[in-house]
Amino acid sequence: MSFPFFGVSDIPEQMLILGVETSCDDTAIAVVEAGKSRNKPHFRVLSNIISGQVDTHAAFGGVVPTLAARDHAKNFAPVLMQALEEAKTAIEGIDLIGVTTHPGLMPSLVVGVHATRAVAWKTKKPILGIDHLEGHLAANLLDEEAPKVQFPAIALIVSGGHTQLVMMRSFLDYDVIGQTRDDAAGEAFDKVAKLIGLPFPGGPPISAEAAKPSDINLELNLPRPMANKEGYDFSFSGLKTAVLYAVRDRYGTTEDPKIPEEERAALCADFQQAVVDVLVKKTVNAAWEYEAKTVMLGGGVAANTELRRQLGEALAAQEHPPTYLLPPKGLSVDNGAMIAAAAYLRWGAMSDEEHAQASWQNVAVRV
Ligand code: KG4
Ligand code: ZN
Repeated sequence: MSFPFFGVSDIPEQMLILGVETSCDDTAIAVVEAGKSRNKPHFRVLSNIISGQVDTHAAFGGVVPTLAARDHAKNFAPVLMQALEEAKTAIEGIDLIGVTTHPGLMPSLVVGVHATRAVAWKTKKPILGIDHLEGHLAANLLDEEAPKVQFPAIALIVSGGHTQLVMMRSFLDYDVIGQTRDDAAGEAFDKVAKLIGLPFPGGPPISAEAAKPSDINLELNLPRPMANKEGYDFSFSGLKTAVLYAVRDRYGTTEDPKIPEEERAALCADFQQAVVDVLVKKTVNAAWEYEAKTVMLGGGVAANTELRRQLGEALAAQEHPPTYLLPPKGLSVDNGAMIAAAAYLRWGAMSDEEHAQASWQNVAVRV
């Protein structure tokens, strides 16, 4: 079945959707009302509960998969109950369930997928396995004011695990045209934060430091890896190492370096700018080459104020500026609402026979 996103007739009727996301270290469950308004899909997030695990993993400087799974198992039921309660619905009121099945940490996914399968089995509700990255794309539609998406579109997905440029012919028909060859953009934020004594995850504290006014110029001359190379691949590992060497050379050590406050702010600003420069340049190039009518952002790093602003400015300066779509800031990071939205789009693309197959028996972890 064609899914021109959205030949209006393909947009399903109003549904209440439960979205479940446990691919990493957040147990995230949301209830979303989805329907059609002014000829486009329209979403209302009725509840969006996220139970994080920062304390569990803080001492390790990264997510420990087995501990993440343990916490998902503990938190799943309370988070589900709270999501239903805040949405003022019982589980019987839900029309469709979406759950992240890939990509992600295997132990984390297993807990979320199998708990959700049990809910679908018990309630006989239809359930769809959802691609986490499609969830990040769909998050762009959760902005109630979002303009209609026109295709082709270019999407930049930047998270702790992924850095991808995606060329979309429709929401469900796309090619990955570039990705990172080593660290993801969010991972670079996390590693640099760890190096300079900021907490995990590193994106928020680094961007907060970078926003502090500072007259200091450290003259670090950080690289912009791959920026001038053809194609759309990224590489952030060298940038992270350049920061590491700069810290070692200036402060004599990479173990708990004593960095004066203002210099740390300047260092964060320089690092963040290097990441933003590369992301903006590649995205603008891709938008130009593919004559994108829309450009959108997704993933945790899409919460970064400077990336949002500078990409918007660079696109606006183009001869034919594409429409620029952003996920609501709070819905850039992992959440259940984006999984519910992606489930709705998938549901709309399915035939009646396929709908009948949307049962718990057919949903499994896909990593
Ligand atoms: O999408 P996400 O919540 O989880 C994954 O799928 O990985 O992304 C988490 C990543 C982390 O690396 C975090 O440091 C980064 O997103 N992040 C940010 C910001 N907020 C979160 N990076 C830069 N600036 C931010 N404001
Ligand atoms: Zn994510």
